[in-house]
Amino acid sequence: MSDETLESVLSEQRIFPVPDSFAGRARISGMEQYREMVRRAEADYEGFWAEQARAELDWETPFSEVLDESRPPFYRWFADGRLNVSYNCLDRHIEAGAGDRPAIRWEGEPGDTRTLTYRELRDEAARLGNALKSYGVAKGDRVVIYMPMVPEAVVAMQACARIGATHSVVFGGFSAEALKDRIEDAEAKVVISADGGIRGGKTIDLKANVDRALGEGCPTVERVVVLQRAENPIDWVAGRDIWLREIMAEESADCPPEPVEAEHPLYILYTSGSTGKPKGVVHSSAGYLLGAIVSMKWVFDIRPEEDVFWCTADVGWVTGHTYIAYGPTAVGATQVMYEGAPTVPQPDRLWAIAERTGTTVFYTAPTAIRALMKQGEEWPAKHDLSALRLLGTVGEPINPEAWMWYYRVIGGERCPIVDTWWQTETVAHMIAPLPGATPLKPGSCTLPLPGIQADVVDEQGDSVPPGSGEGGLLVVRRPWPFMLRTVWGNEQRFIDTYWSYFPDQYLYLSEDQASRDDDGYFWILGRMDDVINVSGHRLGTMEIESALVSHPEVAEAAVVGRPDDVKGTAVYAFVILRAGREGYDLDELRRHLREHVTGEIGSFAKPEEIRFAEGLPKTRSGKIMRRLLRSIACGEEITQDTSTLEDEEVVRQLQGRA
Ligand code: WT7
Repeated sequence: MSDETLESVLSEQRIFPVPDSFAGRARISGMEQYREMVRRAEADYEGFWAEQARAELDWETPFSEVLDESRPPFYRWFADGRLNVSYNCLDRHIEAGAGDRPAIRWEGEPGDTRTLTYRELRDEAARLGNALKSYGVAKGDRVVIYMPMVPEAVVAMQACARIGATHSVVFGGFSAEALKDRIEDAEAKVVISADGGIRGGKTIDLKANVDRALGEGCPTVERVVVLQRAENPIDWVAGRDIWLREIMAEESADCPPEPVEAEHPLYILYTSGSTGKPKGVVHSSAGYLLGAIVSMKWVFDIRPEEDVFWCTADVGWVTGHTYIAYGPTAVGATQVMYEGAPTVPQPDRLWAIAERTGTTVFYTAPTAIRALMKQGEEWPAKHDLSALRLLGTVGEPINPEAWMWYYRVIGGERCPIVDTWWQTETVAHMIAPLPGATPLKPGSCTLPLPGIQADVVDEQGDSVPPGSGEGGLLVVRRPWPFMLRTVWGNEQRFIDTYWSYFPDQYLYLSEDQASRDDDGYFWILGRMDDVINVSGHRLGTMEIESALVSHPEVAEAAVVGRPDDVKGTAVYAFVILRAGREGYDLDELRRHLREHVTGEIGSFAKPEEIRFAEGLPKTRSGKIMRRLLRSIACGEEITQDTSTLEDEEVVRQLQGRA
């Protein structure tokens, strides 16, 4: 990593101190308190986590062992303890007198609404749990959940947790083929789905995809539970299919939570890596839930009696697992859930819901922020967002421009922004500000959570010191309670992917590149495979994107590398203009933008080629499909799986024009 490259990332000088009004009431208030927690965790690592696990979880059988490191990297936490996750998320709040507190305040795109209290959520999970048991689903059996963003998705996950079944949620945007692969890999006994989901005014034929997947394989599936959501006509397989509504009417709400071992697999979640088929990341029960809870408290500073929490992710991704299904419920908070597009019927949909529900803590992705930013400030201005007190982002580095917009326009310069770095594998926040303690720098996810030993290392695994101006690989030095446990059915792949990069030492490899500044703040530079080498300069594609986006005409940019005889790799940029492509002298604008990047980073970073695009190919979770862009940049045939693409037209447009 060259000095010039890092300079641009580390040149962000703005610091936003914690507002006194926020610090005064925060759970963790001031850097001294944060540092004290970090010191405690360093002095007695296992003791620190054991203390958290005793304080935050209700155990059926208390644990006596904390961390078992006898077979690395297969670490076990709290292994001789037993608990039930659904009990911890639902029953314990009811027992504490909060049964009538709204757990989920849901809104559908057509405007339909539904509120479930903690008691109602528990009763529905219990009824479905009883039904699953009656189909022969026992502890450890797998259930695939393929549902829209409706409360029943959370009910289904909690029902599995209640009886000790291991769920695997498949995002509703995945194709029948992708669904089939996942059902087969997990060998699921039951699939829980819906007649359809609604997004952008369209109905997504979930049940038809289930039928197709099961028609082509999936011999282990015995039952399909169907929620009627979209009044969508469906085919029916008698003896196999059953309506969820009938279950709710017939089954008893008495379904005692089944205690499971701390290490019992709560769920499998499939995620893509740099190679091969998606892998099933396996998560534990106790350690997992502990991560969800401490991050809700430390990073979201949540106060269950007062806060209205809203995470805009889909339950099909890890963010929807930890910050919809489990985290908010485990702490007993009220949350908002929305099914639908953020711009239907108008670009102020999210702000209207936030106003109506009195949302206080709002969590979304930079890509959503940039999209809403493009719509203009007049949309949020129509709404009273004064209840908001904290904002969060996740999923990719946030460029400082988007950060500032979010801070000023949505947060009214009053709300701290927690930029949270984590992954499907880490399952909860790892590096993030504690909003009552950590001064913020736009674009930095700041500092590791107490008890998380994140580091930046070189190829040998040696620390790259903060402030050295060098980048390196982001790793975690010690096993933590909520880390992934294995890859489902493939221990070797678990070892190869995450634990084999550095010989002779067990460092968890995140596959992200990062750098630390003088204050020890982490700056994520992008994925290892998003790093390109241009004439011997190692460049994070994200830095160039940030530079492009800081130009007033540019709404969004994606940068990839294209092999080049002379430079090794040439920078290739896809650029979306704020006002569309019409009316520009595009060649002149290209020259401007190259100059602009030269000014922002250096001449070596300026794009060799710039293609003006109508949109970028993204997965429905908002990730830019870089591999696809690389293929387009290289003029190759597209061989990638495009089934998760949000809008296929975008690819046709990009291929069609030079
Ligand atoms: C990758 C993980 C984390 C839940 C959703 C995505 C990138 C995530 C940030 C952030 C910069 C980030 C990393 C990471 N990422 N959060 N705050 N700043 N980059 O989960 O699909 O497993 O993706 O997302 O590259 O490795 P995921």
